[in-house]
Amino acid sequence: MVRLALIAVLGACTAKQEATRPRSADVPFARLDHDQRIRFMEDVVLPAMEPMFQKHDPAKYADFGCVTCHGKLALDGDYRMPNRELPTLDFNDLSKFKSEDLAWMREVKPAMARLLRRPVWAEDNPTGFGCEGCHPTVE
Ligand code: HEC
Ligand code: HEC
Repeated sequence: MVRLALIAVLGACTAKQEATRPRSADVPFARLDHDQRIRFMEDVVLPAMEPMFQKHDPAKYADFGCVTCHGKLALDGDYRMPNRELPTLDFNDLSKFKSEDLAWMREVKPAMARLLRRPVWAEDNPTGFGCEGCHPTVE
């Protein structure tokens, strides 16, 4: 919240300068350049997602950050998704996972889609954002 307020203040100061450039929060993620994507992740994705993870498991996600979703490659500036360190999903059989983890992830997926301003994956919308936006899947 403090951070958002600060951004609002800074935003007001640079309003003239910004007017000629699209603000990252108003533009679909796919149309941002690399630096804008990083700023969007810091300013929008982290604050929205941190509580969803910490509510699920406060101890495990105490240090929630870029690496949680992007894996160790993020430390070298590689943010490509899917992140091979996340569990591989087989949509024909998710029985090896705990149902409370799956329920949690079924909330993470649409929340992330909203942040990216993308529709959620559906059979009749295969280009939508789905679990495989983050996780590797079996072929
Ligand atoms: C909640 C999970 C999550 C967190 C936390 C997160 N990201 Fe992302 N990030 C994603 C997803 C999902 C995508 C892919 C979006 C898409 O499909 O277009 C992505 C994409 C990116 C991209 C674009 C990659 C490309 O191929 O162009 C960059 C850069 C990036 N993230 C940087 C960061 C940084 C820096 C942080 C930490 C400040 C961060 N991310 C935190 C989920 C996350
Ligand atoms: C925005 C990125 C993102 C999306 C979308 C996403 N996940 Fe995840 N998922 C993660 C992250 C990050 C973790 C935590 C991994 C960790 O703790 O190391 C995780 C954890 C899980 C776990 C728990 C694994 C374990 O054994 O601890 C399961 C199961 C899972 N995801 C399934 C799914 C399913 C099914 C979907 C789609 C409904 C989905 N995920 C969508 C990022 C994502």
